[in-house]
Amino acid sequence: MENIIIILYYSRENHTKMLAKRFLDIFREFIPENFRLEMLDAKNLNEIDYEKLKKSAGLIIGSPDYFGYVSGYIKIFFDNIYPERFLFEHRPVIGFITHGGGGKAEKKMQELFSFLNFDFVDPIISVKLDKITSKIETQIQKNCLKMLKLIQEKKK
Ligand SMILES: Cc1cc2nc3c(=O)[nH]c(=O)nc-3n(C[C@H](O)[C@H](O)[C@H](O)COP(=O)(O)O)c2cc1C
Repeated sequence: MENIIIILYYSRENHTKMLAKRFLDIFREFIPENFRLEMLDAKNLNEIDYEKLKKSAGLIIGSPDYFGYVSGYIKIFFDNIYPERFLFEHRPVIGFITHGGGGKAEKKMQELFSFLNFDFVDPIISVKLDKITSKIETQIQKNCLKMLKLIQEKKK
């Protein structure tokens, strides 16, 4: 396990990317110095990225809501790790989605996390389009703190 936390996202119209960046900025404020935070675009994932994902201490995964589900590129990530899912068991994970008013992908993302036995940090952050309110920012901070705690407990 390496002290790296990866923000894996897919975004076409930038809402989800903006939210991913907000995670990066908020988490940066209090993440310990020996940790690295990295953003990865799911549409460019390559072998090296998968190796990095496998070794990460925690994952933050973001997707737009597409037809009430996660977007294809994020689904491909889940499909690809399925054969080696034991490597991801109990990996701390945070999820976020952006949507146009529906937001049903939130539940689907949570189901994927459960299916793969991730240690899910409740709740999934759900944002309508680009409406990142201060309440959302507070929730992001809380989730990131919870993730750090989980990671540190695992190291004991
Ligand atoms: C192909 C497609 C399907 C979509 N399906 C839904 C949907 O089922 N429910 C919903 O609330 N929004 C839906 N949306 C809206 C997007 O989830 C929303 O605009 C999102 O913020 C886009 O993220 P992005 O800017 O990161 O690409 C859909 C958008 C597209 C392009």
